[in-house]
Amino acid sequence: MSLHERPASSPVGEAIPHESAALHVTGHALYTDDLGVRLQNLLHAWPVQSPHAHAEVTALDTAPALAVPGVIRVLTAADVPGVNDAGVKGDEPLFPDVARYHGHAVCWVLAESEEAARQGAAAVEVTWTPLPSVVTVAEAIAAGAFQGAQSTLSRGDVAVGFAQAAHVLTGEFDIGGQEHFYLETNAALAHVDEAGQVFIQSSTQHPTETQEITAHVLGVPSSHVTVQCLRMGGGFGGKEMQPHGYAAIAALGTTLTGRPVRLRLNRTQDLTLTGKRHPFHAVWRAGFGADGRFTALEVTLTSDGGWSLDLSEPVMARALCHVDNAYFIPHVLAHGRIAQTNKTSQTAFRGFGGPQGMLVVEDILGRAAPLLGLDAHELRARNFYQPGEATPYGQPVRHAERLHDLWAQLLTRSDFHVRRSEVAAFNAAHPHTKRGLSVTPVKFGISFNFTAYNQAGALVHVYKDGSVLINHGGTEMGQGLHTKMMQVAAAALGVPLSSVRLAPTRTDKVPNTSATAASSGADLNGGAVKDACDQIRSKLAEVAAGTLGVHPDDVRFEAGRVFALGHPERGMAFAELVHDAYHRRTPLWAAGFYRTPGLHWDRAAMQGEPFKYFSYGAAVTEVEVDGFTGAYRVRRADVLHDVGDSLSPLIDLGQVEGGYVQGLGWLTLEELRWDESGGPNRGRLLTQSASTYKLPSFSELPDEFHVALLERATETGVVYGSKAVGEPPLMLAISAREALREACAAFGPPGRETLLRSPATPEAVYWALDTARRATGEQVAADD
Ligand code: MTE
Ligand code: MOS
Repeated sequence: MSLHERPASSPVGEAIPHESAALHVTGHALYTDDLGVRLQNLLHAWPVQSPHAHAEVTALDTAPALAVPGVIRVLTAADVPGVNDAGVKGDEPLFPDVARYHGHAVCWVLAESEEAARQGAAAVEVTWTPLPSVVTVAEAIAAGAFQGAQSTLSRGDVAVGFAQAAHVLTGEFDIGGQEHFYLETNAALAHVDEAGQVFIQSSTQHPTETQEITAHVLGVPSSHVTVQCLRMGGGFGGKEMQPHGYAAIAALGTTLTGRPVRLRLNRTQDLTLTGKRHPFHAVWRAGFGADGRFTALEVTLTSDGGWSLDLSEPVMARALCHVDNAYFIPHVLAHGRIAQTNKTSQTAFRGFGGPQGMLVVEDILGRAAPLLGLDAHELRARNFYQPGEATPYGQPVRHAERLHDLWAQLLTRSDFHVRRSEVAAFNAAHPHTKRGLSVTPVKFGISFNFTAYNQAGALVHVYKDGSVLINHGGTEMGQGLHTKMMQVAAAALGVPLSSVRLAPTRTDKVPNTSATAASSGADLNGGAVKDACDQIRSKLAEVAAGTLGVHPDDVRFEAGRVFALGHPERGMAFAELVHDAYHRRTPLWAAGFYRTPGLHWDRAAMQGEPFKYFSYGAAVTEVEVDGFTGAYRVRRADVLHDVGDSLSPLIDLGQVEGGYVQGLGWLTLEELRWDESGGPNRGRLLTQSASTYKLPSFSELPDEFHVALLERATETGVVYGSKAVGEPPLMLAISAREALREACAAFGPPGRETLLRSPATPEAVYWALDTARRATGEQVAADD
C-alpha cells in the first residue's frame, strides 16, 4: 500500500478527543514547570532586565545581590565555558555587554526561592551608558538599519505588466505584530545526573536545537545534553527559537551549582523578553487589466526583525512566497528586507510570514475592487490560479481546481448571494449601523522552505504483551500531534488505539529532529511512525504467514486481530502473534524515517518547488459596525477548509476554529504598543499584560460559527491522505477584516476605496467609516 492509502477499518480518521483532553480540563496534565516542585534543592532563576532600549553595560556589580538572603549565585558572561550565544546566527549574546532592547536580560540570579531571586536581581548594580536607539520601522528605514540577507522574488517583467495595465494603483500598508500569549510561559528545568550529563526539560518546539545551543554554551558535545519536552501549553511558533537561551541559563546554573535549576518566565517577563510576530511595512504598485485581472505587482516588504535575526530571514522568505496568495500575477517583483530595531527579536508565529504576505495582496484587492467597479468576491475569483499555472517562484499550483470547487461550495453553504442582498437592504435601512459580508481564500504552502528540515524520525516498540510504545521527533503544544501519531501507529499495526501509548519527546530517543513547525508535524512524524510500524508489521507478517499457511502479503492486521485475507475466522490475536514472534527471535521494535520527496529550493534565486502541496481554504464572514463608535460584532463566520482526508477530524476542527479566532485577534483586536517617544521609557513595551493587550475571548467569537472540512480530498503522497492544518486557518480571518472594510465603505458613497489600518480595532474602524461618511457629506455639498 502506498503512503496515502488507509486500511479498511482503523482508528485513522476517527473523531476522537485530544489524547490529553481529560488531563487538560482537570488540571492533571503536567507542564515543564510542574515537574520542578518534585525536585529537592531546587534553585530559581530571575533576570536582570535593561531599563533602556539600547545601552552599554559599563559596570556590573553582583556583590549586593549575593548579600540578599537565599541568593546562591549570579550568572554572568564570565561563567560561560563555551560560546556566549543563544542563537543560531551568532548574533544573540546570552549575557550581552550591550543591552539591545528594553527588557533585555543581562545577567541571571539564582536563589533558594523565586522571591529571593527577584530581590537579588533588584540588588544587582548595573551602570548603563545609554546609546541612540531605533524603535520604529520608519526610523530603521530612514537610518538604513537592516539585518540579514535582502531577497527578491521575481517573475516576468513588471514594466511590461504595468504597460499592459488599464488601472495602476499604489499604496502603503503597515501590518501589526502579535504576541503569542500561549497559556504556558517559557520554562526550563535542568539538572545534572550521576554521570555528569545535563538533562533539561524545556517548553520547546525544537528540542534538538535547544540541545545544540545548550551544548555550545556549556562547551560540551551534544551527546552530553538531553532535552525533553513533555508538552507545551501552546507554542504558536513562539517556542521555536526563543526557548534556547532559557534552557542554557538553567543548564549553566545547574552545572555550576550542582543543584537543579528552574527558570519560568512570569507573564510580564515573557512579554518583555521574547519575540513576537513580525510587524511588516509594505509599499506596492499593482496593475490591473480592464477585466480586473492582475497584470503586475511590485512590492517591497520590510519586516521589523527586532534586535537580532532569529528566524527573520525564513519568515521573510515565506512572506514573499505568499504575496500571491491564491492569485495568478503574471509579472511580479517583490523585495524583502529586515529592519533591525531595538525591540524583542521577532520570531515565528503561526503562518510564519505567510499571513503578512497574504494580507498585502488581500488589502490591495479589497481597496481596488470598488475602483475597478467589481464586487470584491468577483475580483478575487477572477484572479484565482487556474490549473496548470505556477507561482512566481516557479512551483506549479497543483489542485488549483480544488480552490474553485471549495469557493463555489462555500458560497452555496453560506448562502452568500442571498445574504449579500440582505446586507445591502439592511444598510439602506440603517444610517448608523452597517453590515459587511466578505469572502477570502487561503492557499498556503506546506513544507519547510529550508529543504533539509523536511525529515523526521520515530522509534516504535512492540512489547511481548502486544502493547505499543511510540516515540517521535515532534512536540505536542495542544495541536493534537500526539493524538494523530497514536492513530497512525494503531492504523499501521492494525491494533486498537488503546494498545498504543506515547512517550515524551526526547533527544536521546529520536535525534536530529526538526522543529515542530511549518504545520508539518503530522506529515513528517506521521511518515516516520508509519515507516517504523510497517517494518515491524512486515516482520510479524512473515511469522503469521508461517502459522496461517499463506503468503505474507495475504496476512491482514485489523483491530488487534491477525488473519489470512478473506478468512477473518482463521487468525490469532495480535498479542499472541507478538508472543510467538518473540520466541522466534524477531525484532519487535524499529526506527522509522521519513523525508519529504520532490522538494528543492534555491534560496538566493528564490526559485524552486519548496512545498510538497498547498493547503486551501476559504471563509465568509459577516460583521456589523456601529457608526458612532466603530465598535463591531462578528455576526457569522462560515469556513470550508481542505485538510485532505483528516487524520483526526475533531482535532482538525479545533485547529481550524482556533486558527480563525487567533487570526481574528491579530487582525482586529490585538495591538502591540511600544513607547516611541524620546522620553526615558523609549522602547518599552506598553502593552505588558492582558489588561492592555486585547486577546480574543468568548465575547469576540462569531455569534454563529460554521466550520466544515472539504470532503473527498485525499492528498496522495502524504500519510493516510491527510494534509497539514496547524497554520493555514489563521489566514481565514482576513475575511473578517475585509467584511469590516465593506461595512465601513457602506457609510459612504459607492465606488471609492476604503483604507483600513491593521489591526482593525474599533478605533481604526471608526476612522475608516468616518472618512467614508465625510465623503458623503462632501458629495452632498458638491451637489448643492
Ligand atoms: N495549536 C495549538 N493548540 N497550540 C499551538 O501552539 N501552534 C500552531 C499550530 N496549532 C499551535 C497550534 C503552529 S504555529 C504550528 S506550526 C502547528 O500547530 C505545529 O504543529 P503541527 O505541525 O503538528 O501542526
Ligand atoms: Mo509554527 S509558526 O511554524 O511554529
